[in-house]
Amino acid sequence: MPVLTWPAKSLTEPPTTELHLEAVLYPQGAGYPTLSPEHHLFLGDNLSVMSALLGRYEGQIDLIYADPPFFTNRHYPVRIGRGEDSRQPHTWQLAPGYVDRWDTLDAYLDFLYPRLALMRRLLSPRGTLYVHLDWHASACVRLLLDELFGAERFLNEIVWLYHGPSPIRRAFNRKHDTILVYTKSKQYIFNADAVRVPYNQVTVQTFESSPRAGFGKVPNLKRGKVPEDWWYFPVVARLHRERTGYPTQKPEALLERIILASSEPNSLVADFFCGSGTFPLVAARLGRRTLACDSAWRAVHVTRVRLVEGLRQPFAFWREARYSIPASLATLSFTLTEAPSLSLHAASPALDYWEVDPAWDGKTFRSAAQAWRPPRHTTLPLEIPLPSYPTRVRLRAITVDGQQMETGTTESSI
Ligand SMILES: C[S@@+](CC[C@H](N)C(=O)[O-])C[C@H]1O[C@@H](n2cnc3c(N)ncnc32)[C@H](O)[C@@H]1O
Repeated sequence: MPVLTWPAKSLTEPPTTELHLEAVLYPQGAGYPTLSPEHHLFLGDNLSVMSALLGRYEGQIDLIYADPPFFTNRHYPVRIGRGEDSRQPHTWQLAPGYVDRWDTLDAYLDFLYPRLALMRRLLSPRGTLYVHLDWHASACVRLLLDELFGAERFLNEIVWLYHGPSPIRRAFNRKHDTILVYTKSKQYIFNADAVRVPYNQVTVQTFESSPRAGFGKVPNLKRGKVPEDWWYFPVVARLHRERTGYPTQKPEALLERIILASSEPNSLVADFFCGSGTFPLVAARLGRRTLACDSAWRAVHVTRVRLVEGLRQPFAFWREARYSIPASLATLSFTLTEAPSLSLHAASPALDYWEVDPAWDGKTFRSAAQAWRPPRHTTLPLEIPLPSYPTRVRLRAITVDGQQMETGTTESSI
């Protein structure tokens, strides 16, 4: 079997790290304060985060979706403010998102190879890995996956087709991504019935009009068919409700198909390059338990807001020890009301998100109520209801440009 080599290629024992619990979030009070989180979001380098998770999750994860940088040698800024709408550039600014720049292809492979190896260790015996790439590096990565999983564990090369404008004039427009799929063993999860799609109209008409079509083999037209290995889903465009402003965000429909096909309700599933959080959001909605990680603070913030908005289940937010969250020196003040609710005094600087721990225990921030700026809105609510009467209030907020502010603790007199 051909094996890809390059001078620095090696697989050493990965570095490990300490993970700090930054907060437990109960989206809009759901499950507060007793329900244990089934979902975990990590800020950190996935090499050390995955390595730290081996002790607890080795051989436990049924599905890993990996959407790493593609070796494009570009950087991808994020749109902040009302970043969702391309038609209104005056409403947003650019901020650092993530960088996909490498000195050489070797450097990129040095980055990906040990991470793919760790993903394989984390997969359960029935587990599947989907690696999302494009023409830049998919050929090399396929060889790495053949080596790590065995070429016989290759399941599919899925081609995701989309369309959109392109500046290319001297080649065909490059409008597909490649998703390489490998399974840990022969006994992998694949729920064909969960992802069936209707037969196309021409096929239906052919079978309905002629009993001899298909040489006697009549497909179950009502049940639909298992999709081919090429999928069309539109990219997340400027007017789509799901658009977050985070670069290279993938469509929910694409991830839904992957999750339905290759995991089961209550499966543990993971995305260690989670970006804007599409995968954990869709997976949690489908009743899966999720792990998600990103090394970009902005990605983790966007994911957190998406989970708070779209999920009614608690999740834990962890930070790798050597990563810090940018802090703002500005201060916040607020008023408590009998309702009980909490109202923030006119927010300056502009805020994107704030949350309240109404019973701060001095150790773990338990976020029981949150407010966020909804997509395509410039303002966020300044008053939020609390799920219980507050005792010791602590407040955190994130400014539009990504800095965290935290109040001291206030003993409640209500
Ligand atoms: C292509 S984007 C993922 C987009 C995501 N699928 C979505 O729907 O929004 C790749 C992500 O990988 C993250 N990333 C790059 N290197 C990483 C590392 N070492 N550890 C964790 N995340 C990393 C980047 O910050 C970026 O958010």
